[in-house]
Amino acid sequence: MLKNDLLLRALRNEPVERPPVWMMRQAGRYLPDYLKLKAKYDFFTRVQTPELATAITLQPVDQVGVDAAIIFCDILVIPQAMGMQVLMEEGKGPSLPRVIQTQKDIDALITTGAEESLKYVYDALALTKSELNGRVPLIGFAGAPWTILCYMVEGKGSKTWDKAKQFAYTQPALAHQLLQKITDITISYLKLQAKAGADTVQVFDSWAGSLSPADFKIFAQPYLFQIANALKDDVPVILFPKGSWYALKDISESSASGVGIDWCITPQMARELTGNKITIQGNFDPSKLLGTIPDIKREVKEMIDAFGAQNYIANLGHGITPNVPVDNARAFVDAVKEYESKK
Ligand code: CP3
Repeated sequence: MLKNDLLLRALRNEPVERPPVWMMRQAGRYLPDYLKLKAKYDFFTRVQTPELATAITLQPVDQVGVDAAIIFCDILVIPQAMGMQVLMEEGKGPSLPRVIQTQKDIDALITTGAEESLKYVYDALALTKSELNGRVPLIGFAGAPWTILCYMVEGKGSKTWDKAKQFAYTQPALAHQLLQKITDITISYLKLQAKAGADTVQVFDSWAGSLSPADFKIFAQPYLFQIANALKDDVPVILFPKGSWYALKDISESSASGVGIDWCITPQMARELTGNKITIQGNFDPSKLLGTIPDIKREVKEMIDAFGAQNYIANLGHGITPNVPVDNARAFVDAVKEYESKK
């Protein structure tokens, strides 16, 4: 039994005393205890060792007081499970030395049973679940097919994702083949995450906003919706297509339970586009966490006033950045927790 089920109630459109709060990328990055583990173990050792992943997952629950844990892992474990090499170099971000370009490259990807090589993720979820002992819900996650394709084709991060987009626009049949393969594995992977103890799952489409509304409908949305449909009887699904505010109406009519939004849309507009058909998550500008604590507290209250406390999950509009002081992250979380008394 969960002692704090605010997140799950918000996702089921049930009444809450105050909105639940967690922060994207809350595990890792800015917490001193994470940096100590980071100095000792390389990235994939941290991800693949359930005891380490669990310890990192629990840090923001214990130290910042968030209402949910998100398992410590990475979206790029899917390309890895499909047989691609993924390097994580300090200061450089991820890189995939051999990218996808041709039919032959796609044919060489491991598809059947790829999700089984990710047993360490399910083990980490099960261990975290038992360590949490019902304190807060546990969130599983995966990258969205479009965002994973971006890395598989581009081979590293990009401001424009022009190579990934060129691939999709000039070889759409190959792109759809690849997107479907990623989708199928992601569905099996998320189902196994739910079975291992994830109470809800979030699909990060971090680079959805690189596409026009028309191209989002072709290369991103159908795959997001396949995932939401396939998981809806397992756990509530949160879709986060960053930048794709234009898709909010369609998403509100999908089988997803929640949708994440960034800070480039007003709460009023997001509510107008979605009606009360879906729970909204967001949308504090992460850079505002670099301001003063009184400013953070005031702006959080304004944000909740604007969204309303129901059908709402307080969060950032994208991941917390590594330079945020822990006290400021805590002020963000405390401001949401204090909201009830200020109503
Ligand atoms: O709350 C958490 O942070 C949980 C774990 C988590 C990581 N990555 C660990 C990580 C999550 C949810 C992710 C998701 C992820 N990974 C996304 C989607 C979310 C987003 O921010 O848009 C994306 C695009 C990636 C790909 C990725 N992994 C990048 C671009 C980088 C480099 C720099 C960075 O921090 O974003 C990574 C490495 C990575 N993944 C780190 C962490 C904590 C930093 C490296 C390190 O600590 O050694």
